[in-house]
Amino acid sequence: MKPIYVIGSANADFTLHADRLPKLGETLSGRNFSVNIGGKGLNQAVAVSRLGGNARFIGAVGHDVNGAMLLKAMADNHVAFDGICTENATTGMAMITVVNGDNCILLHAGANACVTPGMLTEKKTLIQDAAAVIFQLEIPLETVMLGAHLAHDTGVPVFLNPAPSAPLADDLYPLIDYLIPNEHEAFALSAIPADTEDGCRENIRFFRERGVKNVLITRGEMGCAYNMENEIRFCPAVKTQAVDTTSAGDTFVGALCVQLMQGKALPDAVEYACRACAITVSRPGAAASIPFASELQ
Ligand code: RIB
Repeated sequence: MKPIYVIGSANADFTLHADRLPKLGETLSGRNFSVNIGGKGLNQAVAVSRLGGNARFIGAVGHDVNGAMLLKAMADNHVAFDGICTENATTGMAMITVVNGDNCILLHAGANACVTPGMLTEKKTLIQDAAAVIFQLEIPLETVMLGAHLAHDTGVPVFLNPAPSAPLADDLYPLIDYLIPNEHEAFALSAIPADTEDGCRENIRFFRERGVKNVLITRGEMGCAYNMENEIRFCPAVKTQAVDTTSAGDTFVGALCVQLMQGKALPDAVEYACRACAITVSRPGAAASIPFASELQ
C-alpha cells in the first residue's frame, strides 16, 4: 500500500485523573499521573500504523527529552518520520485532566508551530504520491491549506479533522474529501448545534454546500453521522465503559482512512472505526490506548 501521510502535531501528554475539575484559584489533588505519547497528528499516525496502514508522519519535535520519547514511539509503532527535530522550540505539550472518563486539554504548541508551509514545499513529491493525507489543526493553518492544495491537485484524498476548532477559509472546504469534526467542532464551524440527529443533518448539508465531499460527525457515545452522497446515515457507537476518551477521535480518523484506502465501502469503514474507538476509550492514555487490527477481528 502507498503511504498514508499524517501532517500534524506531536505532543508529550501530561495526564492526571481527578473527581472534578479545579475551580479558578483552587488547588486540587489528582491521581494516576502519567506522561504519554500524544498529539492529534501522532495519535492518528499511530492509529494508521496499528490498524494496517503504511504510516508516515510530517511534524516537528524539540531537541529535548520529550522529543526523544516521541521519536522512539514513532519507531516502536512503525511510523516513519519525515519531519524535523528542531533546537528552536521545545516539544509540544498537552496538560490533560480526566474526569469520569472524559477529558479537557490545555496545549503548548512548541515545536508544532515549526511545521511551516516551507516544510511541505520540500516534501511536495512525497505528499503528491501518497495514498491519502490526513490533517488536524494543531499546526499552522497556512500549512494545512498548502498541504491540502498539494494533495488535491494530484487527486490524493484529503482528510481533515478540524481539531482543535478554528475558523476555516472558504476555499479550504472544496479541497476536503473527508471532513471529520466532533459535535463541538462542527458547531464551532457552522454555528449550527450538532447535538441532535436533525442538527447533524443540517451540519452535513452546511459543509456539503461549501464543497466538502464527505462529512462524518463523531458523536461520542451516540456514534457517528455521515453522508453517502446526498443520503445521511447514522452509525451507533459500540457500548463500553469509558475510562479515558483521549484520542478516540484520532482513532476514528486513522481507522476510517486505512479502511477506505483498503477499498472498504464507507458504511463498513465507519462501523469499523466506531468499534476501534470503543476499544480506545476503554483504556487510559492517548496513543497508548489505540488498538491493533488484531484486536478488532
Ligand atoms: O486528541 C487527543 C490529543 O489532543 C492528545 O494526545 C493531546 O496531545 C492533544 O493534542
